[in-house]
Amino acid sequence: MNLNLQNKTVLITGGSKGIGLSIAESFLAEGARIIITSRDSENLKKAINHLTDKGFKADQIKTVALDLSLSDACSSLHKQYPDVDILINNAGAIPGGNIFEIDEEKWRSSWELKVFGYINLTRHYLKSMQGKKKGVICNIIGMAGIAPRYEYICGAAANSALISFTQAIGGASVRSGVRVFGINPSPTKSDRMEVMLKKTATDKLGDPNRWMELTTTLPFGRMAEPYEIANLAVFGCSDLCGYLSGTVINVDGGQNFSTPQK
Ligand SMILES: NC(=O)c1ccc[n+]([C@@H]2O[C@H](COP(=O)([O-])OP(=O)(O)OC[C@H]3O[C@@H](n4cnc5c(N)ncnc54)[C@H](OP(=O)(O)O)[C@@H]3O)[C@@H](O)[C@H]2O)c1
Repeated sequence: MNLNLQNKTVLITGGSKGIGLSIAESFLAEGARIIITSRDSENLKKAINHLTDKGFKADQIKTVALDLSLSDACSSLHKQYPDVDILINNAGAIPGGNIFEIDEEKWRSSWELKVFGYINLTRHYLKSMQGKKKGVICNIIGMAGIAPRYEYICGAAANSALISFTQAIGGASVRSGVRVFGINPSPTKSDRMEVMLKKTATDKLGDPNRWMELTTTLPFGRMAEPYEIANLAVFGCSDLCGYLSGTVINVDGGQNFSTPQK
């Protein structure tokens, strides 16, 4: 299958690690050029080394270090790279916890990145893409938006807002040739998920080191692999999925509809 992504320019926020890095790798494998962002230039260097070790050319990869929870950073990223074919909104770091564990400051600061960061970048890039009458925006959101849990309340509410945002924008953007869709991953192997599972293992099992035990009850007895999210993102952004917009795809191995097992 030819996804026709050769020489497309793809901006991936939070592309230094986890799901974002895997998306970066999958786009490179299709011949696209990528721009990856993260706060930390050391993490970005490690990401470049990881990708070049896999045989990808360094001249296909650009990096930008900035904190996307700051509105000015979103505008300066857009000023630096106004002309991308595909935007992947992925950078997010909402901590686990219930309403008493997430105080107002933590709540607001994590939404600055995951909610307002996605909204601000979409506003900037939608406008540029509308001008060219083409482009795709893919929002990596999260299953908690449709299967909310008290123990991840800040993320659940953020994801739920981003699902509505994606549906509303993607319903209208097609009038000017732009597609906007989303993906809701369920627990997927990454640094962030390890931190979250360690907290749950501390709360439930009294020992953070037992976090892997929490994954055995998941579908297929494991977390999703980052590439299982990444490949869907890449396929969804390709012209082969030219009628996909205003939709958020759940990737949870059927967990939302499964009967709890002992
Ligand atoms: N993994 C899962 O199970 C899962 C499930 C559902 C949804 N998701 C969503 O998927 C996305 C990626 O998650 P992940 O698990 O792959 O996380 P991850 O491994 O922790 O990676 C997060 C990425 O975001 C960057 N980042 C963090 N804070 C930033 C900031 N303020 N400004 C710019 N970049 C920032 C990180 O780089 P630096 O640290 O270098 O800044 C890193 O590149 C998130 O939006 C998350 O909510 C993940």
